[in-house]
Amino acid sequence: MSEPAVTSSGPALDVAAIRQDFPILRQSMNGHRLAYLDNAASTQRPSVVIDAISTYYSRDHANVHRGVHTLSQRATDAQEAAREIVRQFIGAADRREIIFTRGTTDSVNLVAGTLGQSIGPGDEILITHMEHHSNIVPWQMLCERTGARLVVAPIDSRGELLMGDFLERLGPRTRLVSIVHVSNALGTVLPVEQLAAEAKRRGIPVLIDGAQAVAHTRIDVRALGCDFYAFSGHKMYGPTGIGVLYGRLDRLERLPPYQGGGEMILSVSFEKTEWNELPYKFEAGTPHIAGIVGLGAAITYLESLDMNAVASHESLVLDYGRRALEAIDGLTLVGTAKHKAGVLSFVVDGIHSHDLGTVLDHQGVAVRTGHHCAMPLMSFLGLSGTARASLAVYNDRDDIDQLVEAIRIAIKLLGR
Ligand code: ALA
Repeated sequence: MSEPAVTSSGPALDVAAIRQDFPILRQSMNGHRLAYLDNAASTQRPSVVIDAISTYYSRDHANVHRGVHTLSQRATDAQEAAREIVRQFIGAADRREIIFTRGTTDSVNLVAGTLGQSIGPGDEILITHMEHHSNIVPWQMLCERTGARLVVAPIDSRGELLMGDFLERLGPRTRLVSIVHVSNALGTVLPVEQLAAEAKRRGIPVLIDGAQAVAHTRIDVRALGCDFYAFSGHKMYGPTGIGVLYGRLDRLERLPPYQGGGEMILSVSFEKTEWNELPYKFEAGTPHIAGIVGLGAAITYLESLDMNAVASHESLVLDYGRRALEAIDGLTLVGTAKHKAGVLSFVVDGIHSHDLGTVLDHQGVAVRTGHHCAMPLMSFLGLSGTARASLAVYNDRDDIDQLVEAIRIAIKLLGR
């Protein structure tokens, strides 16, 4: 992602038409045009996703893999068709490598919860200083259970990973590297392909938290060379409560099940239970079928836009936004790495980020404020939080202009 995310060479997108695909954007907010710039927290859904879910419930719903009747077969076909859409979208080799989960957090917890058998006291899990809590806390819990140690690779004040320090920490006791692809708080794009290659040379598996990457650039898990890749539906125009863990087949085969229940078994007796084959071994219970269908529809929608065009467009808006924000007196951009995806985090002298966010909201501008579930990163930066504008495919220069105007109003109202 590092290169494509910052180029601007793809075909142009018709953003006005794209905005029409998202019904929620047609409303005004607090008397203003809605500038929705909180996409790193959750994107909005196009009509095709909403319709796919509605059609599924209106026409096709029953439980999957459990009935011989037509509706159950339709639901099963819809779920498995979506699994194939996901497989192709991320370039996985085999549909058995696509596990449906509740989201990125659940995907990371699945790996952290099942990896424990092969981890012991003194072993190490390597992460970076810019991880989201969902890529910190599950590993702390694993360390607590096993006596392993969480090792953190440092970053600099611009939000760049210090490569030499990262490599130094890849040691003989490292059992897993778990790294973010795109930082949710800063937008830094990590050179994950290079980091995975370094880990691979040492025989260390790699998990990538792709929550902030999948909707913004083309992902090819085999080209990235990772063992696991985690992401969420709701950050890529799909439903909440659904996500994916991609795992290389040989890795997944070696892991024990995550949760016990229906669907993840082949046979159960009180003496012995046999696990189901992949991917079902990791999908205990009735899945979020409508979410899976919606995720498939979201990916089909994204693909129809062309991922290269999406990356180019967002890169141009990011660049426009960066320049516009830099021109505001008293505003400091937080996170100025060379390779960035669509996140503009900032602080304004003398104004608390929550107050800033409230004034922006009154002007129809939705941003997130606070620590962005990255408290260790914020304390490294010496901040309690930032305001964060984060981009999606439907954002354009008008959204940035509205953001800038709203910040100027906030400075007038609240600035010292
Ligand atoms: N991880 C989400 C964010 O960055 C919630 O806002």
